[in-house]
Amino acid sequence: MKNRTIKIGMLGLGTVGGGTLQILQKNGREIERKLGVGLEVKRIAVRDTGKKRPVAVDQELLTTKIDHVVCDPEIDIVVELMGGVGAARQAIIRALENGKFVVTANKDLMAQNGAELLAIAKNQGKNIFYEASVGGGIPLIRPLKHCLAANRIKKIIGIINGTTNYILTKMSLEGMEFAEALAEAQARGFAEADPASDVEGRDAAYKLNIMATLAFSALISMDDICTEGITEVKLRDIRYARELGYSVKLLAVAEEKEDGLVLRVHPALIPLSHPLASVENEFNAVFLQGDAVGEVMFFGRGAGALPTGSAVCADIMDAARIIKEEIENGIMETDFTKKEVIPPHRQVSRFYLRLKAKDEPGVFAKLATAFGDARVSLDMIIQKRSDAETAEIVLVTHNVEEGRFRQAVETLSAMPVISSINSILRVAD
Ligand SMILES: NC(=O)c1ccc[n+]([C@@H]2O[C@H](COP(=O)([O-])OP(=O)(O)OC[C@H]3O[C@@H](n4cnc5c(N)ncnc54)[C@H](OP(=O)(O)O)[C@@H]3O)[C@@H](O)[C@H]2O)c1
Repeated sequence: MKNRTIKIGMLGLGTVGGGTLQILQKNGREIERKLGVGLEVKRIAVRDTGKKRPVAVDQELLTTKIDHVVCDPEIDIVVELMGGVGAARQAIIRALENGKFVVTANKDLMAQNGAELLAIAKNQGKNIFYEASVGGGIPLIRPLKHCLAANRIKKIIGIINGTTNYILTKMSLEGMEFAEALAEAQARGFAEADPASDVEGRDAAYKLNIMATLAFSALISMDDICTEGITEVKLRDIRYARELGYSVKLLAVAEEKEDGLVLRVHPALIPLSHPLASVENEFNAVFLQGDAVGEVMFFGRGAGALPTGSAVCADIMDAARIIKEEIENGIMETDFTKKEVIPPHRQVSRFYLRLKAKDEPGVFAKLATAFGDARVSLDMIIQKRSDAETAEIVLVTHNVEEGRFRQAVETLSAMPVISSINSILRVAD
């Protein structure tokens, strides 16, 4: 490549865009020294050019027209940091068709349209880099694509949503109820004004989809991922879990078994001795198990302007190196195939169940019989408290197929001695 500056066009200058620009400005010289080539931000598309920005930016660079970025023949790398699916997908396709490399932090888009976009990139002799789409500043995509590429990945288990981890930490350590913890997360900038995608588990499911796609070279649709959020997690269950030696976390789990893939996001009890149990507040962590490497754990800040900007800048640098060296594509994964997914009712787990029953003799025996009849074996059964008429009981099962467990719960709820089924949570080992 002739000795020229590599030109960057950005779509979006919000939280992540601002962080990215700030890093390019602050560490620009160091980045250029490492690359051996200069980087220049040539154009930035935003919705409102008059908005006050937390980062210094030349007003001349701003435009409200996405085409001014993706169609500019001088721009080499388009960095998509707008979010959303429709406009971002169109913009990335246009950028690729116009011969640009693409960097994005967009998990919603990569989870739902990643395979399509990567195929377009490959056809164009270009590539899409998306390290920032999972785990913010934590390296996860690059390890899966490069460092662990020689492994058969057996299992991924992670805490990959900072908002829900912050809420669960506040509930657990400060005794807050869900609504109070959510309000505090919003006040401190760890939760969006509309927190639905986070608290309902969708954000974690998008990220799990992206990691599992790479880990298992599988085509995964969002419907393949059994997704439950934390809106139904009660402070009382967190307290009881702690007494039993567990912490409650929103876990994202992907596993390749002989008969198919297990893909799920749900709150779960995890032993206090497990390293993921001590991942608190907005932090994220991911455990990967490879057949050669064994267990590897990644930990850090899963969101925020600078941590996410750090991953975006690393991707810009990767794209710049490819452009400088005139290598086609760079390393890319596009060989994804559809694989069998084990449906939730056939997935095996331990379960925690809290219920209320009439406080009368023989209740434990009746419960044990109902579970025994459904071939669900119990690990523990404890009476937590009782009032004049009802007793609150907590049960933990051994491993059981979910379908069989749900059947037993259905039988229980029809028993006159059971007043209510209050909570069901999975227990991770
Ligand atoms: N925030 C995080 O910590 C984080 C972490 C990991 C990944 N991500 C991902 O990074 C992406 C960006 O997130 P963010 O938090 O930085 O979002 P944000 O703060 O809402 O910023 C979005 C930016 O895109 C611009 N924009 C939106 N629609 C546009 C359009 N149609 N045309 C031109 N500009 C448009 C906005 O312009 P205005 O400024 O003029 O409104 C704004 O600058 C998302 O995909 C998100 O999932 C975020």
